Amino acid sequence: MATSVRKAVLPVAGMGTRFLPASKAVPKVMLPVVDKPLIQYAVEEARAAGIEEFIFVTGRDEATIKDHFERDEALYAYLAARGDDESLAATASAVLAPGTAAFARQEKPLGLGHAVFCARDLVGDEPFAVLLPDELLLGDPPCLAELVEVHGRTGGSVVALAEVPQAETGRYGIAEVTGEDEGEALALGGMVEKPDPPRAPSRLALIGRYILQPGVFTWLAAQVPGAGGEIQLTDAMAAMAQEERFHGVRFNGRRFDCGSPMGAIQATIACAMERPELRQELLSFLREVTPSS
Ligand code: G1P
Repeated sequence: MATSVRKAVLPVAGMGTRFLPASKAVPKVMLPVVDKPLIQYAVEEARAAGIEEFIFVTGRDEATIKDHFERDEALYAYLAARGDDESLAATASAVLAPGTAAFARQEKPLGLGHAVFCARDLVGDEPFAVLLPDELLLGDPPCLAELVEVHGRTGGSVVALAEVPQAETGRYGIAEVTGEDEGEALALGGMVEKPDPPRAPSRLALIGRYILQPGVFTWLAAQVPGAGGEIQLTDAMAAMAQEERFHGVRFNGRRFDCGSPMGAIQATIACAMERPELRQELLSFLREVTPSS
């Protein structure tokens, strides 16, 4: 019987070099997509999947991220005095209940596997989710909720996958599919981090959503550097997949790589189009700036 997934790890220590100078004093995950910081989309996706505890693995920018998710009494008082209910609701939407946010410090940027390993004591001995906030995923059902559902059926680790062009396999972890569909889920026998196209076992890329058994920490403890000289989460998962149940689920929604300015621009437009109060004006503007061919 699978246990429920209560905790999520959100690695947010990245330096965000592709967003300089914007990311010089503001963490990349705090840059806005419409009117919410990128990190809040991942937190909301996690909440929608039933996650109750949020573990942020931070670098030098911990304070800003903490401030965002804490209740700000002065701001509340200011908005309440003005009777600005809309802004009060917007502010409240960011607040995580006391005791539900925890912070682990990743002192050196040694890789995603290392970032997740830094959360081991806060996760403890239970299955947990990992969300990479750079990947903004719009789906119905939301991606993590789908993984939690599959985990409930299979009891093992589960990752989200999306097909990418062969030429782009070197940018992702790529899954090795060994089994038939189990419902929506594919059985995985392994995965490879950032393989050149000829070495890629498939075109199914890992897209930053994971449900992992706590046994992954045993593999991560070895701290063996992999692709790019970094300690890779994919390598630990690949070892696990050879020994225990590991599934992949194709994500059918839309994904945006907000680790790059173009991805963030596209996400901003896509998210704004979903907002009835912004949609019409945005459409007119896009028509205005699009040369007619
Ligand atoms: C990370 C993971 C990779 C995954 C990707 C998804 O890579 O290591 O397996 O496919 O995120 O965005 P990064 O983009 O941090 O180099």
